Amino acid sequence: MNTSLYRFVLLCALSFSISCTDKTVEFNDPELMSRSKLYAKEYSNTLKSNLKTAITNGGIEEAIKFCNTNAIPLTDSISKAKQLSFSRVSHRNRNLLNKASRFELSLIEQYNQSKSKNPKLFQTGSQKLFYAPIYIDSPLCLNCHGTTQISESVKSTLYELYPNDLATGFSDGELRGLLKIIYDNPQ
Ligand code: HEC
Repeated sequence: MNTSLYRFVLLCALSFSISCTDKTVEFNDPELMSRSKLYAKEYSNTLKSNLKTAITNGGIEEAIKFCNTNAIPLTDSISKAKQLSFSRVSHRNRNLLNKASRFELSLIEQYNQSKSKNPKLFQTGSQKLFYAPIYIDSPLCLNCHGTTQISESVKSTLYELYPNDLATGFSDGELRGLLKIIYDNPQ
């Protein structure tokens, strides 16, 4: 291929890839923000109450197994009921399905520095995204995400179910990840 043709092809490929990459831009919408905060509260309350019931019923190990089989289906059912898509993502994920994207990692880095608790809204293409930081906010979390608080038997249960677990070694108040809501067809 001669050089000018090569340059032309390269330029076309480059402009194509730029036009295909939707930029993710932060935006303001007080109504969507307050609605999302309510949804987020409801979602995390449901997860927490399920977690507490599972611990009361069978102790920490049984609760890990409960989370292993139910956390994502529970999230999916709340998503379905609300016709939205809820999820949790983390830079130090336990479940591989909760691994943060590159964009989410940079947002996590910002929250790690600011320690802010304020959620943010973003627009990417036709999608709207809501992100709220999740902090380790109770000693309860440390039973399964801490360091010395994790007993030997809990460690082995975690290892059995999540051999690539990155979600231990957290301390109280530390950023654990992000709660995410995707609005595909925002009204
Ligand atoms: C009984 C053990 C247990 C306790 C207590 C616990 N977690 Fe978890 N956590 C898990 C398990 C197991 C998963 C993986 C669930 C899955 O497979 O979807 C998880 C996943 C998560 C995730 C999703 C990201 C990831 O790493 O996969 C977040 C965020 C999280 N936990 C935060 C918390 C917070 C905050 C608390 C305290 C309120 C807490 N957890 C208490 C066991 C626990």
